[in-house]
Amino acid sequence: MTEPVTLADHERLAQARIDPGAWAYLFGGAADEITLRDNSAAWQRLQLRPRVLRPLAGGHTRRTLLGRELAHPLLVAPMAYQRLAHPQGERASALAAAVLGLGYVLSTQASVPLEEVAHLAHREAARGPLWFQLYLQPDRALTRSLVDRAEAAGYEALVLTVDAPVQGSRDQERRTGFQLPPGVAAVHLPGGIAPAAGGAGLCAGLAEYSPTWEDLAWLRSVTRLPILLKGITHPDDARLAVDHGAAGVIVSNHGGRTLDTLPATAALLPGIVAAVEGRAPVLVDGGVRRGTDVFKALALGASAVLLGRPVLHGLANAGAAGAAQVLRLVCDELEMAMVLCGCRTLDDITTEHVQRVG
Ligand code: FNR
Repeated sequence: MTEPVTLADHERLAQARIDPGAWAYLFGGAADEITLRDNSAAWQRLQLRPRVLRPLAGGHTRRTLLGRELAHPLLVAPMAYQRLAHPQGERASALAAAVLGLGYVLSTQASVPLEEVAHLAHREAARGPLWFQLYLQPDRALTRSLVDRAEAAGYEALVLTVDAPVQGSRDQERRTGFQLPPGVAAVHLPGGIAPAAGGAGLCAGLAEYSPTWEDLAWLRSVTRLPILLKGITHPDDARLAVDHGAAGVIVSNHGGRTLDTLPATAALLPGIVAAVEGRAPVLVDGGVRRGTDVFKALALGASAVLLGRPVLHGLANAGAAGAAQVLRLVCDELEMAMVLCGCRTLDDITTEHVQRVG
């Protein structure tokens, strides 16, 4: 293939570079992968309604989020074990985001220490916000030490993921018998990750430690950082999140990796935006593969969008340069969509610019 010009090109190129087990882990979804597929299909089902002859001079795509400016309304989603895609792993994806002035969320299950990632990102003057994604650990002292380390290293917010107290049934991955290769590990979790969902005994096992709203109160008491909740799919939970002091909510079904047959995030977003009533920013991820998808998410009320798997495709293809190319393509496509829809800034994008196929 010649130079990749779309995210789909990057995906095809990456598949030739990654072994089948790692591919199943990185890109597979839960069970029958219905949600995984529907995430991207749902953005495609939305149609655009451009306006013409509107003044476009002086336009830009900047967005302020929790007091920090992003060059474009895009962040890299937290993703575990990025060294499976490229030896530089999270170092490379964080650098790509920083160079482009985008946000970056580092996973608890990162394969590179959070201090190293922060050090690299902080060297880029135009970088966007750097956030740390947190999975509450059964051992509170470990959670506390992760929070303290993230604060000390200059992370600007915590993203508490609430939709995966256990891992989903990722059948592709189980079929390949995937194991982490030597040298790739969740470096922040000394004891490793709790075993995958295994059926019998689950409720008496891992679920014993699953976090509750009280844990959010505890987390707020031990950090000065704003906390966003990731994995919100129900409007009532979005309302509760804000009532409990969340600084933002991220509409996410974990990219279709945890519980299959959840609705696509494009379908969930409007209800959650309505429930939050502007009290906190609402972000969204899942299936975003085009700048027009980002445009549609903003039209439905999202403040910004997180991009997952495509960043790993770019990473596998060419390290930091590949991840940056993927992110750049999405930003360029977003700008093109804005101009063609008659929107000078992100604030000009409204629900009137989209309609359901019908
Ligand atoms: C994830 N995701 C994820 N989410 C999270 O909160 N903590 C994590 O450690 C991970 N790990 C992870 C690994 C891999 C390989 C993938 C693909 C995803 C979910 C991620 O943050 C995001 O919600 C989805 O990936 C978004 O969907 P798309 O853009 O991948 O379709």
